[in-house]
Amino acid sequence: MKNISNSELNPDIQPVGFDRSRLKTKIVHLGFGAFHRAHQGLYTSELAHKTDSDWGYCEVNLFGGEALIEALREQDHLYSVLEKGADGNQAKISGSVIESLHGDLDGIDAVLSKMTEPQVAIVSLTVTEKGYCADAATGKLDQTNPAIIADLANPQAPKSAIGVIVEALRLRKETGLTPFTVMSCDNIQENGHVAKAAILQYATLLDETLSQWIEANVTFPCTMVDRIVPAATEDALNEIADSLGVYDPCGIACEPFRQWVIEDNFVAGRPEWNEVGAQFVGDVVPYEEMKLRMLNGTHSFLAYLGYLGGYAHISDTMADENYKAVAYKVMMEAQAPTLSMPEGTDLQGYAERLIERFVNPSLKHRTWQIAMDGSQKIPQRFGGSLRHHLANGTSFELIATAIAGWIRYVTGIDEDGQLIDVQDPMANRLAELFAEHGSEPSVVKTVLALESIFPTDIGQNPRVVEAVTQAYQSLVKQGARKTVADLRG
Ligand SMILES: NC(=O)c1ccc[n+]([C@@H]2O[C@H](COP(=O)([O-])OP(=O)(O)OC[C@H]3O[C@@H](n4cnc5c(N)ncnc54)[C@H](O)[C@@H]3O)[C@@H](O)[C@H]2O)c1
Repeated sequence: MKNISNSELNPDIQPVGFDRSRLKTKIVHLGFGAFHRAHQGLYTSELAHKTDSDWGYCEVNLFGGEALIEALREQDHLYSVLEKGADGNQAKISGSVIESLHGDLDGIDAVLSKMTEPQVAIVSLTVTEKGYCADAATGKLDQTNPAIIADLANPQAPKSAIGVIVEALRLRKETGLTPFTVMSCDNIQENGHVAKAAILQYATLLDETLSQWIEANVTFPCTMVDRIVPAATEDALNEIADSLGVYDPCGIACEPFRQWVIEDNFVAGRPEWNEVGAQFVGDVVPYEEMKLRMLNGTHSFLAYLGYLGGYAHISDTMADENYKAVAYKVMMEAQAPTLSMPEGTDLQGYAERLIERFVNPSLKHRTWQIAMDGSQKIPQRFGGSLRHHLANGTSFELIATAIAGWIRYVTGIDEDGQLIDVQDPMANRLAELFAEHGSEPSVVKTVLALESIFPTDIGQNPRVVEAVTQAYQSLVKQGARKTVADLRG
């Protein structure tokens, strides 16, 4: 069958560009999903193109995505990435994957034996938050999770990512092999610590000495990852096919921007990903804060104020010059001054790149989608910044407006009197609150008293109550577009 490994591709494509026979399976990756293909997979391919790197991947899907793995094998594990920019698209072929396994297709023993090959130095993961089987409230291993229950009963035939990693490490310990580094690339704060906690707790339940060995010998670097990679739709695959000249069922489209900040803490070596734009650092936390406050915080501002202003997508919102100018102010005036970054970090350059990304019309990122789950997102995106401004006596009008925008949004009625489909774990609680107190500006104080979102030092602070009430008043009286225009000054 004609595919990307055996067909002539269009000439303007960035080819693999290196001899793939030099690659060895030194990384086993769990979770061959959308993000990994467009992020770590591509970085590693470009590294082998640029240098004599021999780092290659064995991709593993423990369950689900069988067709994707089968299709990948059909095309010699090559796949395409289409980077879609405001000024045009660039198709690239990634050649870093050299083999693949699937828990159901090949059996878990095949996965475990791959993970116990001596040259395997890193096991990386993009298995989504659920894959860590952690209890959201406590951060501890969720011992009621059915996969964990099954794995504890039958640890040598595990089903969960946690069970698979621990069994592979047990086998390596037993056979006297060096351990591997466990590197999470999921979008979870302090993802390495989350992985470590789940793995050590699970191992302790099986065998205390194994857990101690893992703790002493394995590292779990944290990573901050960034690139918008929507799930592949048939339309996206057809668009990729137009660029390639051949249909690639494993193709994936994404934005041109990418970022990867990695804690430099590997027990058995690592690729020089810094050669292709990744950053190795001692501590990832400041970069996570930078992303949460400047990217995600501004995204929330644009989602609430944009939705209320009648804009369906972030790029539509950014096409309004007032919103675009105020988004930059949110980044540089409200959020950037609250960060403690390592010397030399270019926050202005970061903000400028974020503005370019938000403007990009080829990414149809819905304001409604980003507006979801505000009660969970607001504390991380604005809590620390508010505390900083309160302690320093500095202005936080823009953050107050973002919070007021969320409160106005979760009243559930838009500026034309239409219902808003509010998706939030606290939606019922909020609806009750508005039913009881109405949606006049006095309701702001009641919402700010919800301690799970606004701890008392923030929610009960008179400066916060006053600023959010004022912003809310403006939204109710003048609407979102005029409120944003006023903020532009
Ligand atoms: N897509 C993006 O724009 C983007 C950007 C940054 C970070 N991320 C992060 O990457 C991760 C993966 O996202 P994606 O977009 O690739 O999703 P996806 O649905 O395309 O892929 C998810 C992968 O995880 C595996 N998986 C799912 N649940 C699992 C479980 N319980 N145990 C083991 N494996 C499991 C699936 O088999 C699949 O391979 C997420 O944590 C996400 O936050 C995504």
